[in-house]
Amino acid sequence: MWADDLKQYLKILGEDSFYDLRYLESVDSTNEYVKREADRGAGEGLVIVGEEQTAGKGRLGRTWVSPAGEAAYFSFLLQPKFAAEHVAALTLVMGLSVAQAVREVVTLPVEIKWPNDIVIDHKKICGILSEGRFGSDGKPDYIVIGTGINVNNRAFEGPLAAIATSLKIERGGREVSRALVTATALKYFHSNYRKYCETEDLSGMVTDYNFILASRDREVKIEDPKDPYRGISRGIDQRGRLIVEKEDGTEVKISTGEVSVRGLYGYI
Ligand code: BTN
Repeated sequence: MWADDLKQYLKILGEDSFYDLRYLESVDSTNEYVKREADRGAGEGLVIVGEEQTAGKGRLGRTWVSPAGEAAYFSFLLQPKFAAEHVAALTLVMGLSVAQAVREVVTLPVEIKWPNDIVIDHKKICGILSEGRFGSDGKPDYIVIGTGINVNNRAFEGPLAAIATSLKIERGGREVSRALVTATALKYFHSNYRKYCETEDLSGMVTDYNFILASRDREVKIEDPKDPYRGISRGIDQRGRLIVEKEDGTEVKISTGEVSVRGLYGYI
């Protein structure tokens, strides 16, 4: 069972004092499970790992197909003290952390597609879904960050084949330890989260993030339904907004969830 290895790695990394890990053979959605536990009083650092998810959720109400045996599905609970406006960038913090973990564990040329898709060879290897409950004071009661990493998936069928890949596929069929990738991602997240909580922005991570941003200094199309336009991506700012230089030289800053941004040269 890979959860035993994962617990062991967290212990070796000294992360077992922050993370409280529980493993389930089958769960509807690790995000839903953590939310239920949070409603029952669970504290920051609870991590739920599911071998399979029977109702895995993606962004925009999509399904995240989650069979057992190949990928890593996990969610953890945070109880940050900052205001709601600082919450959205936590998803970018997790994206960066997964990218750093993949680079460390398998040294593959991993890139980030803003805001938080992790891609290798233009194909997605990871999805992140953050959810939260907010109090009447506007502050988060809790935040759940759920991550699915395509670690040992052998192949993707249908339309997914063109846009998804796994670490195993990218390594020419060689298996990767789900436990090591997950523990390393959690290690980077904890360190990045501490930095984020100190400044309540991404100032301690902007350089690392922009270094592996797929669109950096490349042409992008901003799919604004009213007024689509092209520009050059100049990286993110400290709030996680994408800075785009328009053809007339002016700069716009795009917030996450506002409009979709597409690369023009292959990367998704
Ligand atoms: C995306 O659409 O890109 C986000 C996918 C997020 C999937 C993960 S798997 C673990 C956690 N539990 C869920 O139900 N979803 C997230």
